[in-house]
Amino acid sequence: MSICVVGSINADLTVNVERHPVPGETLLGGGGGITAGGKGANQACAAARLGAEVVLVGATGCDANSGPATALLDDAGVDLTHVEEVDSVTGLAVIAVSADGENTIIVVPGANTEVGADFVDRHAAPVREAELVLLQGEIPADGFARAAELATGRVVVNLAPVVEVPREALLRADPLMANEHEAGLILSQLGLDGAGTPEELARRLLGAGFASVVLTLGSAGALVAQDEVFEHVASPAVEAIDTVGAGDAFAGAFCHRVVEGDTLVEAARFACRVGAFSVTLPGAQPSYPSSTDPLPGM
Ligand code: RIB
Repeated sequence: MSICVVGSINADLTVNVERHPVPGETLLGGGGGITAGGKGANQACAAARLGAEVVLVGATGCDANSGPATALLDDAGVDLTHVEEVDSVTGLAVIAVSADGENTIIVVPGANTEVGADFVDRHAAPVREAELVLLQGEIPADGFARAAELATGRVVVNLAPVVEVPREALLRADPLMANEHEAGLILSQLGLDGAGTPEELARRLLGAGFASVVLTLGSAGALVAQDEVFEHVASPAVEAIDTVGAGDAFAGAFCHRVVEGDTLVEAARFACRVGAFSVTLPGAQPSYPSSTDPLPGM
């Protein structure tokens, strides 16, 4: 078993709007369909679609959204043996995408709140056995910490959203993967200055004890920092129509290539192309490429 994702599973309810409403305003929109989402599930799906062997530890509710939330994971071949159906609603993300591709997301965690330390203990085997454990910030902090503690392989953390997690668990990340905004929040959580250029943020995170750092920079690519070496990786230019889940596509693709033996820079270069592919199609998981899809070049 190569990659174990311990993370969230959501149903994404997406509406399309010409522009985002201001507080108190009602607008007409389009869309309204439910697709598969959740940062944990998205990252698991992205890696599996590219050919990785992936097991997901997580929870869905016992409502109508449970099926659509896991359908594409099943299609992609993600091992769902360790996904429990709990007495709750399936995590729900209400997503508004405007004509210029900007999105807002409100997440109702639902069943994901069950993925605490006891839950992770019940599913300890795949976490212990994985070559790489991939974690995000959409499960309870004690579940996150327990997974980091149980892992015997490499731990990759994409702390999105940035939540308070135990410092020791967070520092297991190799790499810590974050966008600039998240990197600033993580530095503040560690009692450090969260402002600066990507290089300054990455340098400070390395100084705080992370073995490696990958900062995602949207259409500007990514910055990989390790052992005082900072390498900028470019992203191919594409016309973005929907950026929902692009960071998750990057994370899943990155982890797939790391377990295949790529260096962090090589993996980031590939992941930028996968992230670029994903923004050209609507939705999160529905926009992820398979290993045979042509990726945008550089
Ligand atoms: O990163 C995108 C994801 O964030 C969406 O799929 C949504 O479910 C939220 O978790």
